[in-house]
Amino acid sequence: MAVIAQKCPEIKVNVVDINPERIAAWETDELPIYEPGLLEVVKEARGRNLFFSTDIEKGISEADMIFISVNTPTKTYGMGKGRAADLKYVELSARQIARVAKTNKIVVEKSTLPVRTAQSIKAILDETSNGVKFSVLSNPEFLAEGTAVTDLLKPDRVLIGGEQTPEGLAAIEALTDVYAHWVPRERIIQTRLWSSELSKLTANAFLAQRISSINSISALCEATDADVDEVAHAIGTDSRIGPKFLKSSVGFGGSCFQKDILNLVYLCEHFGLPEVAAYWDQVIKMNDYQKRRFAQKIIHTLFNTVSDKKIAMLGWAFKKDTNDTRESAAIYVSDHLLNDHASVHVYDPQVPAKSMYADLNYLETRSPEENRAMLTVNTNPYDACKDAHAIAIITEWDEFKTLDWKRIFGSMKKPAFLFDGRNILNHEELRKIGFKVYAIGKGHQG
Ligand SMILES: NC(=O)c1ccc[n+]([C@@H]2O[C@H](COP(=O)([O-])OP(=O)(O)OC[C@H]3O[C@@H](n4cnc5c(N)ncnc54)[C@H](O)[C@@H]3O)[C@@H](O)[C@H]2O)c1
Repeated sequence: MAVIAQKCPEIKVNVVDINPERIAAWETDELPIYEPGLLEVVKEARGRNLFFSTDIEKGISEADMIFISVNTPTKTYGMGKGRAADLKYVELSARQIARVAKTNKIVVEKSTLPVRTAQSIKAILDETSNGVKFSVLSNPEFLAEGTAVTDLLKPDRVLIGGEQTPEGLAAIEALTDVYAHWVPRERIIQTRLWSSELSKLTANAFLAQRISSINSISALCEATDADVDEVAHAIGTDSRIGPKFLKSSVGFGGSCFQKDILNLVYLCEHFGLPEVAAYWDQVIKMNDYQKRRFAQKIIHTLFNTVSDKKIAMLGWAFKKDTNDTRESAAIYVSDHLLNDHASVHVYDPQVPAKSMYADLNYLETRSPEENRAMLTVNTNPYDACKDAHAIAIITEWDEFKTLDWKRIFGSMKKPAFLFDGRNILNHEELRKIGFKVYAIGKGHQG
């Protein structure tokens, strides 16, 4: 919405949310999310044509076009628990729009939703409103966290799905006109509703599948003296495969990949396609395996026990340049290590301690008091690593590459182990310093 406001000064954008703290933070220079370049965009438009408010009813009344961008987490209860998307917040939004709207509206699904949700939204809108006409569009968001602003400014494509009726096609054109302020028209793809909804789930499933595919090969590389980065480079130069999303790691995280694949799996089961469901489910299973394998490697290498040993974890965010920790590998790796009674010390340049404890407490593996006692949060990497038996790199923050690794080595217990879960460091240099290095997918490291 900030980018739309920046690029379309004549359009008034009201961002409304039920969370007053978030809305208040959008009015300051400490935005509620860390995203490179976002503050500049917000500052340019804020107070001009970009406004933040908790007055949702007023926002609905004033709008010609309403983007529903609420959260759609995996269900934690009842039918479809652990798989289906929880559409509670979307439905509440639709009911509120229907109740409040007095003029015709275009309602845009910006949240990632299961296929055919637009139909449900339309039914709620049509049957609970007072004669107001609604057009429902699907406009899934393809930005990646950490590069959100550049992705939005130069998207590979914008996807708009709508009903193939005169009103539906007119609504598609109205939204196309908004994006056409800065996106070339040939990059704005117009489809039928369900194709658009399904394309978002499919895009995330394909992206995650590439990571799980290369991670599966990383395990084989370690068993066979091959090097996963060499394999990735060799296959990535094939123009049919391409080089992106072939970086082996401790496993993917983030709020979207797992939830969207689980959703796809649930849909396939629902539509009587168990083979298709099992195929995509394996992408998640492989990711869980990769996180578990990394933690087990640490325990195994540290002479089969990490009990009362200090392990430094560098990084908690699910990837660099974001403070988002949802489904981060760090949560699961630390949970495994804490189960083996390790003392885990974490440093992350952007994630506050309260998020880390909230993430761990959410797993309910142990009490919040135990998590607090066993996990320490440091505000600089050198404190986290001092007297540690091992270091685990979890997030690929650039600043980790330029740490004073000699100083860190000097302050650690020996042998000083380092587990590079992102393959971002110069392992030869580290070995020269004296570190015992384990890197993902490097079978030749001895
Ligand atoms: N985060 C991403 O990178 C990304 C990318 C593409 C798509 N998506 C999709 O976008 C959607 C939102 O994701 P997010 O990461 O921004 O989630 P989020 O949880 O950070 O934000 C959702 C916001 O919606 C608000 N909200 C909930 N119910 C509301 C209601 N009834 N009225 C007004 N506000 C309400 C919440 O308070 C919250 O601030 C999800 O469907 C997600 O899958 C996210």
